[in-house]
Amino acid sequence: MENPIAKLKSFRYSASSAGWRRTLMDVASHALAYRPDRDHSFDQRFGTDTEGKVEPAALGIEDEGRREQAILYLPSPAPVTRWMLEHVGVSHRDFTFVDLGCGKGRVVLMAAQYPFQRVVGVDISPTLTAVARSNVARFPARARRCDSVEICNADVTTFDLPSTNLLLHLYHPFDGEVTSAVLARLESSLRQTPRRVVVAYLLYSGGARGARRVRSLSLLKETRYEHSLLGQYDWLFFSS
Ligand SMILES: C[S@@+](CC[C@H](N)C(=O)[O-])C[C@H]1O[C@@H](n2cnc3c(N)ncnc32)[C@H](O)[C@@H]1O
Repeated sequence: MENPIAKLKSFRYSASSAGWRRTLMDVASHALAYRPDRDHSFDQRFGTDTEGKVEPAALGIEDEGRREQAILYLPSPAPVTRWMLEHVGVSHRDFTFVDLGCGKGRVVLMAAQYPFQRVVGVDISPTLTAVARSNVARFPARARRCDSVEICNADVTTFDLPSTNLLLHLYHPFDGEVTSAVLARLESSLRQTPRRVVVAYLLYSGGARGARRVRSLSLLKETRYEHSLLGQYDWLFFSS
């Protein structure tokens, strides 16, 4: 929990530099914002453990460089993911779904509710992949429409992407250098085995840094930009 004295100091600093009106508006919009880490509805419904927030230092990533390049674990906002799965415009049966940086697996479990060929979650954190595997094991069979769901404990920069049609999901999981390495790997895999690839990239509204890397690729073109779901998330779609 944030130190209340530090919070008060930052509040006073903000008021003296930006004014009380602006500060109060910022505080109100922060208090009203949707917080996916505190949304218990998904876990209550399915008996899983996907909520909470885990800072990079607590992810158990051995490689120091990779630890510094990780952002943090924060689960996806389920209604926003549901929107993507319904509107992405692919026939689920013809695609493998891969969540790059799957954390505790909330998105993997949501994708498993659609008839994808396979659903795969990849994460570098051994701690979180253990939780994700246990979530997959306890996810109710009645909710699943995909029979092949797996969690891999791996660094995305060395992970071999399946050679089927792919729907790749990223929730701004790592810094630009790791994103570039993953995308270079994707392009070389696409050159070797041409196929349909759709990338669904979720980011906070206005935070388009991760997306710039995808935009620089030659084999993937931006096909759609969906603004401001729940008032704070944007979806960017790219396709081969
Ligand atoms: C924002 S969380 C996203 C969780 C999940 N995709 C979701 O949307 O609910 C980012 C995840 O990326 C993982 N990650 C960071 N760097 C990674 C890397 N090099 N390889 C694989 N996973 C990584 C972190 O461990 C973390 O769980």
